Amino acid sequence: METIVNQKLKGVVTINTQTATLNPADTLVLEKPSVEDGSAMWELVNNSSLDQNSAYKYIMMCEHFAETCVVAKEEGKVVGFVTAFIPPERQDVVFVWQIGVDSSQRGKGLASKILNELFDRDACRDVRYLEATVTPTNEASQALFKKFAKEHNTTCEVSECFPKELFPSDEHEAELSFLIGPIEK
Ligand SMILES: CC(C)(COP(=O)(O)OP(=O)(O)OC[C@H]1O[C@@H](n2cnc3c(N)ncnc32)[C@H](O)[C@@H]1OP(=O)(O)O)[C@@H](O)C(=O)NCCC(=O)NCCS
Repeated sequence: METIVNQKLKGVVTINTQTATLNPADTLVLEKPSVEDGSAMWELVNNSSLDQNSAYKYIMMCEHFAETCVVAKEEGKVVGFVTAFIPPERQDVVFVWQIGVDSSQRGKGLASKILNELFDRDACRDVRYLEATVTPTNEASQALFKKFAKEHNTTCEVSECFPKELFPSDEHEAELSFLIGPIEK
């Protein structure tokens, strides 16, 4: 952490071969997750409106998809994350499975920073589109993805993706696809 604080005016440092982006206002670090971060990601989800999954899923994403996952840490505590992957048959797309920010950190631009960190990763060098599915009532998430499209001077195409009937319980809303791009690099 000392290294991070000392170098924070430079904006970006490399720690253990992982890229960390620093916020001059605090000690926020964005990095690739390790398996040790999986349970904290799971806990953050448990405290949010996101779909619950087993802790195993987060640990598995950290093990096999770290290149396209980001954790945001403040003083070592996970306060935000994105889990994403590049679908094998669509190498120009990064699909965002979940993005979440701790309620104490929302509304400060953190989710936007996390998406940009993901998009700037080497693993995304051939990626031109970002895709996510969002429920029709999730205004925060819709605003986040529309803002990302605007920031990158591109469009956000919204279409039906997973209808409500696909889900085993009546409580799950339909999921709309948000396809953002093409994005110039
Ligand atoms: C969605 C979520 C990740 C946004 O995180 P955040 O760090 O607060 O987002 P940002 O601060 O980067 O905001 C991005 C944009 O969304 C807007 N926004 C954020 N929260 C909003 C809300 N509750 N209602 C409307 N707009 C909202 C912001 O105003 C900003 O747009 P602007 O700069 O044009 O004003 C966060 O609210 C969250 O974790 N929600 C619960 C989990 C979830 O629903 N995840 C998404 C589904 S995968």
